[in-house]
Amino acid sequence: MSWIVRSVAVAAMIAGLISVEPAQAYGRDGHRIVCDLAYRYLSDAARTEVDRLVAEDPQFTHFRDVCSWADEVRGSTHRHTAPWHYINQERNDPHVDAEDCAENGCVTSAIDLHAGIFADASRSDADRLEALKFLAHWMGDIHQPLHVSIAGDRGGNDINVLWRGERHTNLHRVWDSEIILDYMAGEWAWAPADERWQYFAEELAAGIPLAGVDVYTPLDPIGWAQESHDIVRSREFAYYWARAENAPIEPGDHYYETGLRISQQRLQAAGVRLAGLLNQIVEGRTQTARTVPDLPGSGALD
Ligand code: ADE
Ligand code: ZN
Ligand code: ZN
Repeated sequence: MSWIVRSVAVAAMIAGLISVEPAQAYGRDGHRIVCDLAYRYLSDAARTEVDRLVAEDPQFTHFRDVCSWADEVRGSTHRHTAPWHYINQERNDPHVDAEDCAENGCVTSAIDLHAGIFADASRSDADRLEALKFLAHWMGDIHQPLHVSIAGDRGGNDINVLWRGERHTNLHRVWDSEIILDYMAGEWAWAPADERWQYFAEELAAGIPLAGVDVYTPLDPIGWAQESHDIVRSREFAYYWARAENAPIEPGDHYYETGLRISQQRLQAAGVRLAGLLNQIVEGRTQTARTVPDLPGSGALD
C-alpha cells in the first residue's frame, strides 16, 4: 500500500466508515495460526520440502506467511480462484457431496487440484510452490464453518451483526475474524496486536496431544466440508434462522463463548490435518495406518 492509500484507509477506519480487512476467508491471523500449527507437525521430509519451496518465493520467507496469499490474489491475478474459497449447499440439503461443487469449482475441488499438483514431482517447483500456497489456504477455509454454508446470503456475508453491542459487522466476519481477534485482545492485551497470533497458536498447540505422534491425513475434502456444514446447521450456530434482510442480529457473550470453543477446535483440526496431508503427500504414503484418530472439532456438534 502506498502511504497515500494507507493514510486514507486509516482515516476512514478511524471515521468508522470502512474496514480494510477483506471479509472473505479466515482473516490473516486465522490462516497464519493454521499454518503455524501445521508446521509444528510436519515430518522432517515434509518440512524440508516445504522450506525448500518457500525459499524460492519472491514475496515470503516462512511457510506461515504464505497462507493468506490466496486472498491477496483472488480479486486480481487469480480471479478464477474466487469461488474456490468455499462451497455452498442448497438450504434443504444437509449432505455435502461432489455434486454440490459449483461449475467453476469450489473449495473441495480446489483441495483435490492443488494436492494433486503439489504431489506431482514432474511439475516445476514454481507450480508446486503455488499449489502449496493455495492448499495451505484452502485447508483453513474449509474448516471455517461458514465456508460450507448456503449461497443466498453468501456464507453469512449478508447477515448484519452488531457484534457484542459495539461493532457493526456481518456473520461471516464474526467467524473469520471477530471471535479470534476478541479472544486474543482479551488474553494478550499487553502484546502488540500483530504479535498476538503467536500466543494463540502456542496455546492451541499445547491443547493438541500429539507429542511424538507421526501425523498422516488421507485426502478427504468432502468429509472436512461436511463437518463444517454440520456445525453451521447446528442449533447453537444460529445461522439457519437468520435472514439477510432483517435488522442486525446481536449475538451475546454466550454466542461468543460457544463460537470461541468451536473456532479453537476448527483451527486445531485444520492445522493438524494440513500437516498430515503434506506429510502423506511428501512421503508418498498410500496406506494410512498411523492416521491420527479423533481430532478435537472433527465430530459434528449436536
Ligand atoms: N461467497 C459466497 N458464498 C460464500 C461463502 N460460503 N463463503 C465465503 N464467501 C462466499
Ligand atoms: Zn479464502
Ligand atoms: Zn471467510
